Amino acid sequence: MKYETQKLAYPYFLAAMGLFVAQVLGGLLAGTVYVFPNLLSETIPFHIIRMIHTNALIVWLLFGFFGAAYYLIPEEAETEIHSPGIAKLQFWLFLIGAAAAVVGYLFGIHEGREFLEQPLIIKVAIVIVALMFLYNITMTLIKGRKTAVSLILTIGMWGLALFFLFAFYNPTNLALDKMFWWYVVHLWVEGVWELIMAAILSFLLIKMTGIDREVVEKWLYVIVSLTLFTGLLGTGHHYYWIGTPGYWQWIGSIFSTLEVLPFLAIVVFTFMIVRKGGRNHPNQAALLWTMGCAVMAFFGAGVWGFLHTLAPINYLTHGTQITPAHGHLAFFGAYVMVNLAIITYAMPHLRGMQPYNQVLNMWSFWIMCSGMAFMTFVLTAAGVLQTHLQRVMGIGFMEVADEINFFFILRLLSGIVVVVGVLIYVYAMLSTDKEQAQAGETSPQAAE
Ligand code: HEM
Ligand code: HEM
Ligand SMILES: [Fe+2]
Repeated sequence: MKYETQKLAYPYFLAAMGLFVAQVLGGLLAGTVYVFPNLLSETIPFHIIRMIHTNALIVWLLFGFFGAAYYLIPEEAETEIHSPGIAKLQFWLFLIGAAAAVVGYLFGIHEGREFLEQPLIIKVAIVIVALMFLYNITMTLIKGRKTAVSLILTIGMWGLALFFLFAFYNPTNLALDKMFWWYVVHLWVEGVWELIMAAILSFLLIKMTGIDREVVEKWLYVIVSLTLFTGLLGTGHHYYWIGTPGYWQWIGSIFSTLEVLPFLAIVVFTFMIVRKGGRNHPNQAALLWTMGCAVMAFFGAGVWGFLHTLAPINYLTHGTQITPAHGHLAFFGAYVMVNLAIITYAMPHLRGMQPYNQVLNMWSFWIMCSGMAFMTFVLTAAGVLQTHLQRVMGIGFMEVADEINFFFILRLLSGIVVVVGVLIYVYAMLSTDKEQAQAGETSPQAAE
């Protein structure tokens, strides 16, 4: 590790992993309620469990992004982070805010509106946290070297904060409410977060394959342009049935179909660079997560997104189990995996030891990916059946829910597999290699 302030990433990655465990345990509990509907219905009702599951997801992904930025920006900018004090303060404020939100949820304090349930004061705290971060990173960039990777990462983070501001606008008109809600949700995951992901993957590829920066930068610009060209108007795929004018069915269908292209470009780019640059880096596990991220994001967002994005198809599938099938694989493939990739890469440097327990880490990769893939297939099957029975045959919602119950049992089983994978990952990242510890070896990788 070349710069002292890269260490600022460490607590962020620890918090990310901790909340990741909490998130999947919350998911597991939600999946259990699906199979045993009355479980905890008085103490922690399903909607609260679901809220903790999805909010923990967003918060740990943000912890991961912040950590990734603090880790990679010094190296890219060739200078220390502007203010380590702000970075530390920002960490604690965010952690306390997240904890307060969860406690509030448990007591039923929330504002509704999926993903944006945080009470007003927590939303304000999130904005303060984001401003502290943006100030710190932007000041660092101004005094340092400006690379495409750090610029795009920073632009992505600015976009993330700006679009979050729409969370404060909650019109009473339900159509308008939904319109602005998607400004946050869609423009995050299919807009600015994609820039963040592309920048982190580029950093990892430059570091691990030894390829010329110019090659990666050229691709990065292609991906960013494709993302913004398709993703902004792609928002239209959520405007089919909420009371917006009919032309959105055309705009949404066309542009969101094109949204597959940046995800395809990321796969091509990753594999091309790994082939050209070679895969001799000692941290094979980090390379596996990097390549896996490109592939799984393509399937989750690209393929499973396209599956229900055309208006005539979405007319039938809207809000069925097809939606969480896609939501799970897309979030996992793109944003969970990019975080696990950078954490896998950075942790050995941060802890001052060789990449250890790589085999175990790679096991966790295959276990988690199989679990999520199986969950996606199962929910897709449930969704197809549900669409047919409910939307084509016109059978009532609750009756159909009984019919597809079997798939919810399978979803629960796949969830257990995912949780096991997550626990193995965290163990592999945090345990100490006994031989290395005994030999008293410190940071042989730091020279790299
Ligand atoms: C990494 C990127 C992506 C993530 C994380 C993601 C995640 C999600 C999530 C969580 C939802 C459910 C939202 C809700 O109603 O609560 C959703 C809905 C949807 N997504 Fe994505 N998505 C991504 C990319 C895409 C792409 C590229 C497409 C199209 C090619 C797409 C098409 C859709 C559609 C059509 C819906 C609405 C489903 C419905 O009508 O019920 N998504 N997405
Ligand atoms: C890293 C892995 C995971 C990610 C990224 C993730 C993400 C998500 C997202 C984005 C939603 C909202 C979905 C939507 O509205 O379409 C959701 C809901 C849910 N998740 Fe997960 N999740 C993960 C792991 C799990 C696990 C292991 C389980 C265990 C069975 C699980 C069970 C559920 C359930 C039951 C819901 C509520 C679905 C509903 O309301 O019908 N998730 N998750
Ligand atoms: Fe979308």
